[in-house]
Amino acid sequence: MDHLISRLTLEEKVSLLGGQDFWSLPAIPRIGLRSLVMSDGPIGVRGTGWAPEDPSVALPSPTALAATWDPELARTAGRLLGQESRRKGVHLLLGPTVNLQRTPLGGRHFECYSEDPLLSGEIGAAFVTGVQEHGVGTTVKHLVGNDFETDRMTVDVRIGEGALRELYLAPFERVVAAGGWGVMSAYNSVNGLPMASNEPLQSDVLKDEWGFDGIVVSDWRAARETVGAALGGLDIAMPALENPWGPRLVAAVRAGQVPEDVIDEKVRRVLRLAGRVGLLDGVPPAVGSFPANLDGDAVAKTVAARSFVLARNEHDVLPLRPADLTRVAVIGALATDARVLGGGSAQVTPPHVISPLDGLTRALAGVDVVHAVGADPRPFLPALAEPASVTLLGADHRFDVPSAAVRWIGDLPGGIAPEDVTGLELRTTFIPRQDGEHVFAVSGFGTFDLVVGGEQRYSGTLHPPGTGRADLLLSPREQRTTVALAAGVPVEVTLRQTIRPGMAHTVSATLGHRPPGVSDDGLLAEAVALAAGSDVAIVVVGTTEQVESEGFDRASLALPGRQDELVARVAEVNPRTVVVVNAGSPVLLPWADDVAAVLLTWFPGQEAGAALADVLLGAEEPGGRLPTTWPRREEDCPVLHVVPRDGTVEYDEGLFIGYRAWDRAGTPPRYAFGHGLGYTTWRYDDLAATPAEAVVTLTNTGSRPGREVVQVYAGPTGPSAPQRPARWLAGFAVVEAHPGETVTVRIPLPGRTWQIWDGGWRTVPGAYTVTAAHALDDPRLSAALQVSWCG
Ligand code: BGC
Repeated sequence: MDHLISRLTLEEKVSLLGGQDFWSLPAIPRIGLRSLVMSDGPIGVRGTGWAPEDPSVALPSPTALAATWDPELARTAGRLLGQESRRKGVHLLLGPTVNLQRTPLGGRHFECYSEDPLLSGEIGAAFVTGVQEHGVGTTVKHLVGNDFETDRMTVDVRIGEGALRELYLAPFERVVAAGGWGVMSAYNSVNGLPMASNEPLQSDVLKDEWGFDGIVVSDWRAARETVGAALGGLDIAMPALENPWGPRLVAAVRAGQVPEDVIDEKVRRVLRLAGRVGLLDGVPPAVGSFPANLDGDAVAKTVAARSFVLARNEHDVLPLRPADLTRVAVIGALATDARVLGGGSAQVTPPHVISPLDGLTRALAGVDVVHAVGADPRPFLPALAEPASVTLLGADHRFDVPSAAVRWIGDLPGGIAPEDVTGLELRTTFIPRQDGEHVFAVSGFGTFDLVVGGEQRYSGTLHPPGTGRADLLLSPREQRTTVALAAGVPVEVTLRQTIRPGMAHTVSATLGHRPPGVSDDGLLAEAVALAAGSDVAIVVVGTTEQVESEGFDRASLALPGRQDELVARVAEVNPRTVVVVNAGSPVLLPWADDVAAVLLTWFPGQEAGAALADVLLGAEEPGGRLPTTWPRREEDCPVLHVVPRDGTVEYDEGLFIGYRAWDRAGTPPRYAFGHGLGYTTWRYDDLAATPAEAVVTLTNTGSRPGREVVQVYAGPTGPSAPQRPARWLAGFAVVEAHPGETVTVRIPLPGRTWQIWDGGWRTVPGAYTVTAAHALDDPRLSAALQVSWCG
C-alpha cells in the first residue's frame, strides 16, 4: 500500500477519509482505486436509496436472529446479506449492532441481539463471517455504550472498567477476533470522551490491544471534531454533510496539529479495505469465490420460524390441527399490517410482506378464516393501500409505488440529482368501497397540498420536532381531513409536496387513509363476537413505529392503544385464544396467564405470515429461546435509566444488567432468559464438564422431531462475591433429534468464562458449578468443577 500512498497528495489522502456524499468514498482512478459504497444495515441491504423500485430482502429483526441461538443460521443470514450487498453494488454493510440490551426502554433494543455478551458476540461473529464470505465488509456497531437513544449525540455514558470489558466491549472483541473488517464508532461519549475521538478505546484497546487492522467509520454525523477525531483513532468520517475533515483536516496537518503519518495510517486502512472488497487494481480481493446463492424468501422464513418463542402453550393448544377447525378468527390491526421491521436506519423496502392473515388464509385452505381489527394501536393513519404514481417535479421523472407513501434518504429514485427536483406529486385514483366519511391524512415533513376530487383539502407545512434525521423520518407530523365519498365512484387524489432547492435527498410523504367505520368500542365488540363464534382466536398484538425505533427511547413497556383490553375480552369468550406478540423487544403481557398460548414473534421480516402459519400449524417447531428477559411489571426491570442527568448516564449497576440483575433481585420475571417451549420434550441424561468444555447428552422424549438449545451456565459454588453475578452463560449449542433419539453435544467454554477484568484479564480460581439447562429458570443437570488455570 505504501507505494500507492506515496503517490497521493495530502488533499487526495484526506478525501479518502470522508464521504463524498451520503454513502460513498471517492474513487482515485490514478491509483486504480474505485469508489467504496456503504449501506445499512442489519436486517437487509437498503442500497444507496430507499426507493420501492429497488427492494431488499427483509430478514427478521436482530433480536429474532439471536433468539435462534444458532450461529450457523446467523452465518446463513450474513451470507444472504453479503449476496444482497453484491447485487446492490454495496461494499461495506453497516452492521451488525452488538450494543447490549441494557434496558428494555432502549429504542434500538430490537436492533441489538441480546442482554448477554456471549450470545451477542457469537451471533454477531457468525453474521459477520457470513457477510464477508461474499467479499463484502461489515462494520460492527456502535462502539460503544450506545445502549439507549435519549440525547445520543451528546450524552456521556459513564461505564466502569469491569462492566466495559466484561459486558459492553466483549461482543465487539469477539467480532474483531472473528476477522471483521470494520467498526462503527458511536455518537455518544464514554467516560468523558466522544467515541469518534476516543483514543483510549479506538486506538489503544481496539487497534493496539485487539490487533484490529480494519477501518473505524464514524456514525453518521458523529464526528464533530477535526483534530480530536483525527488523533482519536477514527479512520473515516461520514457522511459528506457537515463533515469536520476535508479542507479542515488538510489545514490541521499543514499547521502541524495532526502528523501526516496519522493520515497515512488511516489511508493505509482504507486501501486495505478497498483491496479486500476488490476495489483496488493490483490487489487480489480477500475472497476469490463466493458461496452459492441463497433464496432470500426461504432464508427469511426459516430465520423467522426458528426465532419465534413459544412462551406458553396450555394443554398443547398448539400446534393447531386444521382437521379440527371450521372457523378461525384472526384479530388485530397488525394481523393485516404486520410490523415486520423496526424503525430507523434498519429499515428497508421489502419486495413483499406476507401478513399473518395472508399466511394463515393460505395455509388453512378449506377453513373459514375471518378477520377483525379489534383495536388499532397505530397513531397515524396507514398509507392509502392503492398503487400510486409519483412524479419528481423539475426533473420530470415518474415511478410507481404500491401504496401512497414515498420515503428515501440519500440517492433519489432514477438517479436524479437532488438539485434538479423542486417537488413531487403523488397521484392515485381511489375507488371507495363504502359510502360515508373517509378520513385522509398528510404526514411527513415539508410543504404539502392535498387535493381530493378536485377540491383542495389541505395546504400547509408540517415541521418535524427537531432537525436530526431521526426527527425527519421517524416523527412525522400528521394533518387529517374528512371527505364524504360514495361507494364505487372513483375519485382522483393528488398529494403535492414542494421541496426547497437542494433538499431532495431526504423525503418523507404519506397519504394516509381510514375508511368510514365503527367506533373504537364497536371495533372491540366486533372482534369479541367473531372470537366467540370461532374454534380458535389468534390475536396479533404489538408495537408501532412510534413506540420502537432508532432516535428515541420507549416511554413505556405497555402495548399501545386498547390491545390489552382486546386480548382480555377475547380470552373471556374463547378458551383457545392464541396471542401472537409482534414486538421487537419486551412488552408487558398482563393477560398472559389467562390465554391458552403466547407466541413471541419479534419483528419477523417479510415472510412473517408464512412463518407464523408454519409454526401455528406445526409444519415447523417454534425454535426460539429468549435472548433477553421479559418482565412481568415495568417497575421490576433492573435498569430503567436512559435519561441523562447533567448530560451523563451512569451505568452504576455495573455488571448487573439482564438476567445477572434479575437473579440478584430474586424477582421472578414474566419469562426468564433462555425460556422457550417447543413441540417435543427433552430429558437431559448426562453432563460432564471441564473448564474448556461441557459435554451434554440428552434424549428427545416426545413424539415428534425437535430442536433444543442446550444452554450452559457457570457460577461460583456457594455464595458469590457481592460484586459478582451468581451465574452467567458460558456456552450453548443447538441439537436436533428424532423421537426417542439420544444425542451428545460438546460445547466449548471460552477461557473468559472464568476470568474477570481487574486492570487486566485474571482467572478467578475456585469451585464452580456448571449447569446444563433448558432455560435459566429450568436447570436440568449440574456438575462441580475446580478452576485453577488460565484458559
Ligand atoms: C445510525 C447508524 C446507521 C447510520 C447510517 C445512524 O443514524 O445510528 O446505525 O448505520 O445512521 O444510516
